[in-house]
Amino acid sequence: MKTHFYALTDSTNRIAKIKAEGGAGHGTAVVAEKQTHGRGRLGKEWTSIPGKGLYCSIITCPDVLPGQYAQLTLVAGVAVAEVLEKVLGRRCQLKWPNDIFFGGKKCGGILTESMEVKNGTLKGDRAAIVGIGVNVNSELKDFPENLRDTATSLFLENGKKHSIKDLFELVRKQLLQKIEAFEHGGFHKILENWRSRDFLLGKSIECVGYDGAVIRGIALGPDEDGRMHLRGRDGRDFEVLSGDLRLAGT
Ligand code: BTN
Repeated sequence: MKTHFYALTDSTNRIAKIKAEGGAGHGTAVVAEKQTHGRGRLGKEWTSIPGKGLYCSIITCPDVLPGQYAQLTLVAGVAVAEVLEKVLGRRCQLKWPNDIFFGGKKCGGILTESMEVKNGTLKGDRAAIVGIGVNVNSELKDFPENLRDTATSLFLENGKKHSIKDLFELVRKQLLQKIEAFEHGGFHKILENWRSRDFLLGKSIECVGYDGAVIRGIALGPDEDGRMHLRGRDGRDFEVLSGDLRLAGT
């Protein structure tokens, strides 16, 4: 399976998109040691500490309907969570849609971007770029000051340095296996798995929309389509398609 390694790039997601447009298939990956413009969800920046994290993007062409791509992002979250748990020997938590937490601090994030592929050499005419960022060997001093209270790394969690290349191989293998399970066994089981790690479940949270409007409610967790639900103060339920979720008052 092909892997393109870069010492430096702006964003592995951007490069992976170009590779997919050029005909690169399912499982092809782009990995970088350093990213100058790592992208996070909702146009945010992903801080890529040079040489100390896993920054990779995996091209996937899942054999599912385009409407199931919202589920795919949770499938990817479970895959990465399982690998990090094996490495650390303890459970992590997932914050919808795909932040990976240890001890209430963010250790990794996933940015899934779907695209149309006109090239025709791929299995379908859609692909999803699964971009994965994990803080691996970073020490506290490596993080910008504003992240020191909220971010963690595998090193900070167990005091050991880890091989980023080995971690990448484990992550890709697990992601491709989970996608196969999704294609053949459906989403339900994977969702159960995701829910067992739900960081927000039952907590009072705020959802900030694109227009800055804030909706408050109790987190009910994702549904069978991968969409998050909140119960408002008036007892009505809301569906969140996209947006920034945070614990109320933080
Ligand atoms: C998030 O937490 O909002 C998602 C972060 C995803 C970061 C990864 S790093 C590798 C890949 N390339 C990018 O530009 N972003 C993703």
